[in-house]
Amino acid sequence: MTTISQIIRGMPATDGAGVELSRVIGQPALPMLDPFLLLDVFRSDKPDDYIAGFPPHPHRGFETVTYLLEGRMRHKDNAGHEGVIESGGIQWMTAGKGIVHSEMPEQQHGLLEGFQLWVNLPAKHKMTEPTYQEFSSEQLPVERREGNVEVSVITGTTSTGTQGPVNQPLTDPLYLDVKLPRGRTFVEPLNPEYNAFIYIIKGPLTVGDNGTRLDRDQLAVLNPGEELIVSSMDQDVRFIMIAGKPLNEPVERGGPFVMNSREEIDQAFADYRGGKF
Ligand code: CO
Repeated sequence: MTTISQIIRGMPATDGAGVELSRVIGQPALPMLDPFLLLDVFRSDKPDDYIAGFPPHPHRGFETVTYLLEGRMRHKDNAGHEGVIESGGIQWMTAGKGIVHSEMPEQQHGLLEGFQLWVNLPAKHKMTEPTYQEFSSEQLPVERREGNVEVSVITGTTSTGTQGPVNQPLTDPLYLDVKLPRGRTFVEPLNPEYNAFIYIIKGPLTVGDNGTRLDRDQLAVLNPGEELIVSSMDQDVRFIMIAGKPLNEPVERGGPFVMNSREEIDQAFADYRGGKF
């Protein structure tokens, strides 16, 4: 059975042109969980918190993954790629050698809620051509288990064989969005070699046989183990479960760039300033 090694909450942060968000991975209490470099959660129905959006900025060396629970975000990059991510949609962007993009709310009011996850790329693949994998809510398979348990699969394959559409063999991520009615239990085996966590969208719930309680907006890092057991109590719950293969390589960060050495970060800034993105 899998146990929890750490429970944390996000720290308030401001990013982009002034978007209020909660930084869960990528803060002092959890700088990274290899291969995951950052997890930001945004949730606000106050336009002032999000309307400024994320004007054009570069990335190099990793992937940015936006999973929008509620709202609309327009994405645009310097290679001519443009589109709107809608409620329940996922955008898996492999920035690779470099992209300049903007992410702007396509709404003036109402709730904007979602996650941005940064997934590292192995050294050999950091300078790959940028690519996108984008899927709407309707395109994500939903596995229905006994007791009205619903598992939406973004990437990876569940124990009962439902496969998500996003493909990334380099870190082999599993990204599930699980909805559990009250009084139910969800069991899912884990790869003991992979790092894994869950983040609670709606709680409370309990993890494991000993019933460690987790509330909304808590992230639990899971110890390597055989299987994850999550139980709801007298309320419906919802959480995301993410796992991936650690790269075990040196990580050097410089703002929107994540490389393996200081020299490569300096090169990224020089290339960006030199208009080479
Ligand atoms: Co970005």
